[in-house]
Parts: sequence; C-alpha cells; structure tokens
Amino acid sequence: KKDIIILGIESSCDDTSAAIIRNGVLLSNIIASQKVHEAYGGVVPELASRAHQQNIVPVVDQAIKQAGISRDEISAVAYTRGPGLLGSLLVGSSFAKGFSLAAGVPMIEINHLQGHVLAHFIQEEGVEFREPRFPHLNLLVSGGNSQIIIVRDHLEMEVIGQTIDDAAGEAFDKCAKVMGMPYPGGPLIDKLAKEGNPNAFEFSKPRIKDLDYSFSGLKTSFLYFLRDQIKENENFIEENQADLCASLQKTIIDILMDKLVKAAKQTGIKEITVGGGVSANSGLQNALKAEAEKRKWNLFIPKFAFTMDNAAMIAITGYYKFKKGQFAAQDAVPFARMSI
Ligand code: KG4
Repeated sequence: KKDIIILGIESSCDDTSAAIIRNGVLLSNIIASQKVHEAYGGVVPELASRAHQQNIVPVVDQAIKQAGISRDEISAVAYTRGPGLLGSLLVGSSFAKGFSLAAGVPMIEINHLQGHVLAHFIQEEGVEFREPRFPHLNLLVSGGNSQIIIVRDHLEMEVIGQTIDDAAGEAFDKCAKVMGMPYPGGPLIDKLAKEGNPNAFEFSKPRIKDLDYSFSGLKTSFLYFLRDQIKENENFIEENQADLCASLQKTIIDILMDKLVKAAKQTGIKEITVGGGVSANSGLQNALKAEAEKRKWNLFIPKFAFTMDNAAMIAITGYYKFKKGQFAAQDAVPFARMSI
C-alpha cells in the first residue's frame, strides 16, 4: 500500500507554518512566527501578508528537508482556506495552487478551526498516542474564537456554543493592553497570575443564554475599574499587577468552564478535548484537570506546539480529507470568515 504523505500549509494569521505528515505520523512542523507586530500592539494585516510572502518558500523547504522525504513523494498539499486574515490566507492558498500544479498533486482546502480540533489526532514517532473517541466535546479557545464543538467524527463537527462578541484570547490581550503590556498579553498574564491572588478583585461575568460566550463586557468593566482606581492612586496597576492578572484570569476561566460543564451535562459526553492558543493557559489547564477529576472526564490537552497556529494540524486534517477523496478546485478562493 502506498504511503499517504501530506504537505500542510498554514498562513491564516501571523505564523507561517509548513508540516509533513506520513500516514498520520508527523515528520516535521516548521513555524516562523512574526515579530514585526509587537511594536504595534496587535497583528497588522498588511505586514503579516508581507512576512508570509517572505517566509513561505524557506519554511516549506525546511519542512520537506527535515521530514527526510523528497518533494516527489508528496501525495497532496493541504492549506488553510479560512477563517483568518484575507491577505495572509492568499499567500498560503496561492502557494498551494502553485505547488499543486508544479508537482501534479491534488490540493485539499482546510478549515483552520477543524484543524485545531483535529490536532489531537497527530501521531509522533516515539510519543505515546492517546486518541479521543467519538463523539467528544472540544473547547476551542484562541485569539479569534471561543467555541464548544461536538465532534462526531474526524470531519463531522457541530458548533453548539460560541462567543457573540470577543474571543477569550482577545479578552486576555485587550485587558493586557489596558495594563500597558505588550502584545500578545495572554502568556504574560498567565505568568504574572501565578504570583497573584485570584480573589483580590471581582469582575462581572456575562449572563448569556445557552452555551454561548461573551467577553466584551468583561473588557469594558476591567477598563472602567482601572480608570476609577487610577484616579485614587496613579500607581494602582504597577502595585497590583499580579493580583489584577490572577483575578482577571480566574474570571475568564470561570466563564469558559461554566459553559463547558453545562455542555458536558447537556450532551452526556465525558470525552473532552481543548485547543487553540488560550488552551496553553496554565490556570485553564488546572481548572480542566480539576473538573475532569471531579466529573470523570477523559481529558485531552494538546502539547504546547499544537495549541498555537501550526501546519501539523492542517496536514492531519488533510490526511483525513485525502482518505475520503475530498479535494479542492483550482479556482477555490480563501474566506476571511468560515464556520465549522
Ligand atoms: O490559536 P492562536 O495561536 O491564534 C489565534 O487565534 O490568533 O491563539 C493566540 C491567542 C492570543 O490571544 C494569546 O494571547 C492567547 O492565544 N494565549 C494565551 C496563552 N498563550 C497564548 N492566553 C492565555 N494564557 C496563555 N498562556
């Protein structure tokens, strides 16, 4: 039986990534993160697409070399069609089209969000593989999304709850910005929160129906709270940084966990996976583990490299689509907005 070798391409936001997966096993996963955005306090779309343009060829080259395969062995090229920044997506999709034509292999379009969900199916040589069963629930929390998804099969998913405004990662990043921290603030809040008291301050939680989320109110109440405190003491943020981070982080985690627990109860599903950049948060991971212990969940937390945007998750999704013969047309265009 012939090997199925997938080249994955990810360029939806500010990471240019290429990966090679052979029969479901990861051979390489190269990620070039873009530093240019730090100075601007957020991702600048125009700069992101230029950096992708610069990085894409060397990143793919390195992925193929590191995998120890030759270009001719690749069975198909899988690329992120959306959602994401259009200018960034265009670089990856144009590259995939060029590669597909030059190598004479089919192209597979991937929904970035499905990629995050399927990150749990990436096998690595020498690493014990624990595979989530179906159906399972996935909490997808990143800079652009906060969703609860029922995963019925590799390619059969349904969103049962989602944010009606900001994503959880945005709540971290925007509140960090208010405190004068660099972008992205999520990892920094995580670090500082470890030294602080999570019950020092209380911030309001949204009352949103069903399994949906909302984070824009928290950001606003955080901003107003700080404004009032600074009027009394201009050094308030500096003097209370760790407590502010710990309390804010606890609020975000409480909001996320509340709906996840509700979803697990409603569906009766105890197989739980998590993904997206925010799933790297140590406080969230602890809360998930505690809840898993209490409720007998079978919990899957991805390794750090697979929480962030990466091409390995695009390649593994491509592998499952390849097996089903789901290929993209040469005239497919990327979409900034795309749901699961
Ligand atoms: O999935 P991801 O890499 O890409 C986007 O969707 O943009 O997620 C990035 C997001 C950012 O908002 C970042 O602040 C957040 O994930 N993030 C974290 C942590 N690490 C990354 N948030 C909280 N704690 C962390 N340790």
